[in-house]
Amino acid sequence: MSEALQLQGRHLLLGLSGGIAGYKVAELVRLLTKAGATVQVMMTEAAEQFITAVTLQALSNRPVVTSQWDAREANNMAHINLSREADLMLIAPASADFIAKLAQGRADELLSLTALARPMERCPLLVAPAMNREMWAHPATQRNVAQIKADGATVLGPAAGDQACGEIGDGRMLEAAELFDEIVAFLQPKLLAGRKLLITAGPTFEPIDPVRGITNLSSGKMGFSIARAAADAGAEVSLVAGPVNLPTPRGVRRIDVQTAQQMYEAVLPRASVNDVFVATAAVADWRPAASAEHKIKKDGSGQAPSIAMAENRDILAAVAALPDRPYCVGFAAESQDLLKHASEKRLRKNIPLIVGNLGPATFGRDDNTLLLVDERGHREIPCNDKLSLARELVREIATRLQENA
Ligand code: CTP
Repeated sequence: MSEALQLQGRHLLLGLSGGIAGYKVAELVRLLTKAGATVQVMMTEAAEQFITAVTLQALSNRPVVTSQWDAREANNMAHINLSREADLMLIAPASADFIAKLAQGRADELLSLTALARPMERCPLLVAPAMNREMWAHPATQRNVAQIKADGATVLGPAAGDQACGEIGDGRMLEAAELFDEIVAFLQPKLLAGRKLLITAGPTFEPIDPVRGITNLSSGKMGFSIARAAADAGAEVSLVAGPVNLPTPRGVRRIDVQTAQQMYEAVLPRASVNDVFVATAAVADWRPAASAEHKIKKDGSGQAPSIAMAENRDILAAVAALPDRPYCVGFAAESQDLLKHASEKRLRKNIPLIVGNLGPATFGRDDNTLLLVDERGHREIPCNDKLSLARELVREIATRLQENA
């Protein structure tokens, strides 16, 4: 399934209680439906003070339900019917008052009634609080939040920042794109739960002088997609990133480095405490032996300066040589004879799995084709966007971890 349709076939129940953050839900509904989900919107009376049912009906392409007395349902039991077909229920925005109702198990209007009537195992509850910082910090709210968590709800956010009331602090609802990512992540199978992954990504930058250096065209997209897919699959992920312009995937610990040496120093001490090491970084093979302290100037002779080079250590091979090494996955970017070169590289680096791709065409692109090579043979993952490939690779890694266990 491509990234664009990652919620294809999913039924989501989206409930709004009263709050200014209701405006963000319009965008969220758009993102969810564009990703292929069907979204059934429910609103409390208070929610309708902030955003209209008309807007949400148009965006979800379904009538919005606002009352438990809605006669359009043949059996007049919207709370039962709608919660039986849903894969999850999200309350966004969840006001302080609504969280209090959830904590108490009250059911005096449609939304709380549905939350209570849903089959808990089949239709998990996600809650995105939105309120003033004092309301959020109040012991009563904190007690209620702890209670709904204990009852199985997943609380998303809240974030800190500027609030509609003019104050600054905790209590802002997550943005639509963040809620979208949380939902997609929540629905992924937790194939790597309890596992720790260490991933390198991006290029390295080897300075020649303070303003110049040697680098390459790696965008980091593949490594960042794997970090995201692994985190979504329940793993604890550390991402050692060269200089790239990409946002850190949710829940991922990121360590920024510049040079191959810094990447080596960031990776080696962490390697053994991880279950898996995935080396996607395009590490520079050589660096200028010394970086000039000041910018190298032309001297008027017409002669280019000669730059002595030194070889960088191979991070992947070093990790693979550790006595208590993690499961090592290498990448091989080749310009021809992919299977041959990838197979040789796998043996040379002494790693169980290598992922080949044909470069430099893949650098910076959003899609790719991967060739997985291990001791049993090879398998192609056909062309897809990098996040979908990453999810597939995560499945492959999880299967191998299980086999090795
Ligand atoms: N790699 C690494 N440290 C290096 C060089 C490479 O960890 N100093 C890792 C890469 O992240 C990748 C794998 O090794 O997972 C293969 O990288 P690649 O550049 O294709 O291989 P090289 O060993 O540099 O071989 P060659 O340049 O001869 O193709």
